[in-house]
Amino acid sequence: MERLRVAVLGMGVMGTNHAIVYQGLAETALAAAVETNPERADSVRRQFGVPVYSSVEQLLDETDFDAVSICLPDPAHVEPAVALAQAGKHLLVEKPLATTLEGCDAIIAAAERNSVKLMVGFTLRFDPRYYSVHEAVAGGEVGEPVYMYARRNNLLAGARRLAGRVTLPFFLQVHDIDAMRWMGGSEISRVYACAARKVLNDLGVDDVVVSSLHFRDGSVGCIESNWILPDSLPARFDFRLEVVGTHGRATIDLESQGVAVHDGTRMRELDPMFSPVLYDRQPPILREELRHFAACVLQDRTPTVGGADGKAATAVALAIEESLRLGQPVDVDYG
Ligand SMILES: NC(=O)c1ccc[n+]([C@@H]2O[C@H](COP(=O)([O-])OP(=O)(O)OC[C@H]3O[C@@H](n4cnc5c(N)ncnc54)[C@H](O)[C@@H]3O)[C@@H](O)[C@H]2O)c1
Repeated sequence: MERLRVAVLGMGVMGTNHAIVYQGLAETALAAAVETNPERADSVRRQFGVPVYSSVEQLLDETDFDAVSICLPDPAHVEPAVALAQAGKHLLVEKPLATTLEGCDAIIAAAERNSVKLMVGFTLRFDPRYYSVHEAVAGGEVGEPVYMYARRNNLLAGARRLAGRVTLPFFLQVHDIDAMRWMGGSEISRVYACAARKVLNDLGVDDVVVSSLHFRDGSVGCIESNWILPDSLPARFDFRLEVVGTHGRATIDLESQGVAVHDGTRMRELDPMFSPVLYDRQPPILREELRHFAACVLQDRTPTVGGADGKAATAVALAIEESLRLGQPVDVDYG
């Protein structure tokens, strides 16, 4: 296999980014896409020049391919992932792996049974800024982690686009849950979360969730996320991470990345690390993630972030949702 032929399922925001990267990488080719929205399917055909099907069955019947990126809405990952693993296709599943532990188990078991690679799209693992902090923390530079804090706040337009289909713990916090497990090296044992609803009542989702975390090694953490920031803010998001250790501290502050354009009326902060096209090449984060996936398949290596990581993050997100429902602390059930 010279080039990995990849099909992308779900051609919304993330699926489109995956498709651009697969078409641009030397190691991969975009073979096809699956998209149920007919207008979106037409525009994908025009943009990428590949067949676009309305079902996984049709994709399997009509196209030769080796692997898939599953970029469907959070609750829709399991069934296609299991069917595609059974057909021998390698899986890159966008985060969260699934929104239930049973769903995670089904995907992990199908991948193992059929000897296909399974990787979860935890983008922060391929972000050079998070990677640098991970290296510093893993190298002992801050000492033993005592406290970790993460902020992942988005503009209101993002929440309106998603229209209540996903929740804050699964859409945003799951990134930092995984980053904290990776940085601190310890599992989260107990969570206590609170939320507020004043803006997005019509969508039936929380405006903000604040989750406090207890880790098995005695350290603690806090993840704050909202999706109600005013759309007129210059930056599209406000992300932070802080690791306070026994003798040091590491921080990431991404509201401004030092790149801004003012057009005479409004200032806009740019996100050069993630937007997908740069002189027809892709900036680093998603490109490195998908290159890693391709390398794991082509060279028979184990993905750095796999099914067990996906299931652990789902277990914590479920505990956060349970804590929100009960209004009390909840022990994480890893299944
Ligand atoms: N790693 C990251 O940084 C990151 C960022 C955003 C989203 N995500 C994840 O990516 C996934 C997709 O999110 P998104 O924001 O792109 O969603 P989206 O709503 O923009 O796109 C989903 C697409 O899937 C299509 N679709 C729905 N059901 C389908 C089906 N059964 N078959 C084929 N197509 C179907 C929809 O028409 C839509 O075009 C989610 O799991 C999300 O959590 C990851």
